[in-house]
Amino acid sequence: MGAGRRFKVTVVGAGNVGATTAQRLADAGLADVVLIDIVDGIPQGKGLDMLEACPVTGSDASVSGTCDYQDTAGSDIVVITAGLPRKAGMSRDDLLRKNHAIVKQVTESAVAVSPDAVIIVVSNPLDAMAQTALRTSGFSRQRVVGMAGILDSARMRAFIAAELDVSVENIHAFVLGGHGDDMVPLPRYSTVAGIPLPEVLEEDAIERIVQRTRQGGGEIVSYLKTGSAYYAPSAAIAEMVDAILLDRRKILPCAAYLDGEYGMEGIYLGVPVKLGRGGIEEIVQIRLTPEEQADLDRSAAAVRELITKIGV
Ligand code: NAI
Ligand code: 2OP
Repeated sequence: MGAGRRFKVTVVGAGNVGATTAQRLADAGLADVVLIDIVDGIPQGKGLDMLEACPVTGSDASVSGTCDYQDTAGSDIVVITAGLPRKAGMSRDDLLRKNHAIVKQVTESAVAVSPDAVIIVVSNPLDAMAQTALRTSGFSRQRVVGMAGILDSARMRAFIAAELDVSVENIHAFVLGGHGDDMVPLPRYSTVAGIPLPEVLEEDAIERIVQRTRQGGGEIVSYLKTGSAYYAPSAAIAEMVDAILLDRRKILPCAAYLDGEYGMEGIYLGVPVKLGRGGIEEIVQIRLTPEEQADLDRSAAAVRELITKIGV
C-alpha cells in the first residue's frame, strides 16, 4: 500500500502544558507527535503511555518521547513549552533570563533539524519568548507565532457564557496585547450570537469579566499553588496546530511580530491573525478607539521592558 506523508508535530517540554498538548494532538490523530524534554525518561514514559492509549481512542497517531533532537527532524510544527516555573527567591527578572536561555537553546536545536517548521511559542513571559524564538531561528515572522490570545479569550468566553447562562458556542471574545496583567480585553469586539457584548451586559458586569480575564492565569495558580494552568492552554495550542496543519485560515488572537501594524514596530503582541499552512498568513487590523489604542500601547510598553532586558 502506498503511504502518504503524515504530519509531524514536536512538543518541546514534557511538563504539564507539553504533555497535555501531546495528548490532545494524539487523541485527535491529526499528526504524529514527538515529545522532547531535557529530563531523560519523562518524555519517553509519557509518550509510550499516550501511544498505548491510541488503540482505545481509535487514533493511528504515532507518539514517542525522546531527549534527542534528531528524532524531531522534519517536523511541520514545533511547539515550545520548555521553561522553568518561578521558584521561591527567584525574581521575575531571574526567571526571564533563565527562560530566555532555555528558549534560545531549544529553538537552535529544533530548527537545526526542522528548518521548514512553523514554531508555536508557549513558554513565559510569552511575548518576549516569541521574540527570542524569532531572533534565534532566523525564520520569517510568518513562521513564529505565540499562543496566549486564544487562551485569554477562552477564559473571557467562559465567564461571559456563565454570566448569561448561554452556550459557549454563541460567544466570541477578543483579547489583544501582551500576555500579562496589561492584556487588553475588547468588549466591543466580543459578541453573543453576533450581538456586541455592551448590548447584552451592564457595564459593571463587563468590567468584572474583564478584570477576571486579566487575572485568569493567577486565579488558577492561586488554587494549584505549585503550578499553572494547562488544560485550557493545551486546548488553545491544539486549535492553533489544527488551523495550521489543515490550512484553515482561521482568524484567532495570537502573538505576532508587528512591523508597523497597530502603530507598533519590532515587537510581539497579541493581535488577530489569520492562521494557515504558512503560519501567520495575515495580521488583521481592526479599528481601535483612542482608549483601546492607549491600553494596547500600555501593554506594549510592558513587553518592551522585557525584550529590552534580554536584548532581543
Ligand atoms: P512544567 O514545569 O510542567 O514543564 C516545563 C518542562 O520544560 C519540564 O518538563 C522541564 O523539564 C522542561 N524543560 C526545561 N528546560 C528544558 C530544556 N532546555 N529543554 C527541554 N525541556 C526543558 O511547566 P508547564 O506548566 O508545562 O508550563 C510550561 C511553560 O508554559 C511555562 O513557561 C509556563 O509559564 C508557560 N505557559 C504559558 C501559557 C501561555 O498562555 N502562553 C499558558 C500556560 C503555561
Ligand atoms: C496562564 O495564563 C500561566 O500564562 C499562564 O495560565
